[in-house]
Amino acid sequence: MKVLNRNMLMLVLVLSLICNISHLYAADPTDGFTNIPLTEANFKIQRPYNLPVEARYSFENGVRRMWVYANDKSHSPNSQTQPRTEVRIMGHDYSSGVWQFEGYGFVPNGTTGPSVVQIHGATHESSTIILRIYDGELRYYSGDLIASNMYDKWFKVNLIHDVDQGKVTVFIDNQQKFQTKDRGPGDLYFKCGVYAAPKNISYYMESRWRDIKLYKK
Ligand SMILES: *[C@@H]1O[C@H](CO)[C@@H](O)[C@H](O)[C@H]1NC(C)=O
Ligand SMILES: *[C@@H]1O[C@H](CO)[C@@H](O)[C@H](O)[C@H]1NC(C)=O
Repeated sequence: MKVLNRNMLMLVLVLSLICNISHLYAADPTDGFTNIPLTEANFKIQRPYNLPVEARYSFENGVRRMWVYANDKSHSPNSQTQPRTEVRIMGHDYSSGVWQFEGYGFVPNGTTGPSVVQIHGATHESSTIILRIYDGELRYYSGDLIASNMYDKWFKVNLIHDVDQGKVTVFIDNQQKFQTKDRGPGDLYFKCGVYAAPKNISYYMESRWRDIKLYKK
């Protein structure tokens, strides 16, 4: 009986240790952050300037679907940039502190090359980080691989920008996948959708987003 009890105790200890470790491993990236409530006024849709918003955007059952074609016009007649249909988070531009974007993304197979989520702004460049999808692979710009096999499924993205430490961290499905230096403070804000790249893009580009949230420390 005593032996059994001791074995049971060991088993309980080992199990609780495993639970604690797996809890740490799958820690929520927003732990320790404060949620910033968003309303529809915080979601500005940028799309080809010559088209009505419904021609490139829908919002149904909580899902924002954004699409764009490689030969579409840019978002403003004064802009020379590539075409885009993107949500631009308004009202919470930042230039210091620790900020976090959370959202669930979905990219259909066939879409290749565009930015699907980004932190716009930096000291001397137009972006701090851009995540593009190429043939199902999520990449840092057209470089480092962040995650594979990303087509036709929902994936959770958390981007943490520690401006004070000059650091950006990317989580996919609650796992840290990438970390890099930022490009210095500036007028910073989060965007998601589809923003065509100069090269290697499909003619049709689409991404969907839901449960977009903002946090800060
Ligand atoms: C995407 O579609 C192409 C063409 O239909 C197919 O060959 C490929 O296997 C698909 N890729 C994924 C990741 O589903
Ligand atoms: C475009 O794709 C080609 C062929 O895969 C590759 O050699 C080239 O580096 C890519 N260009 C960019 C800007 O990613």
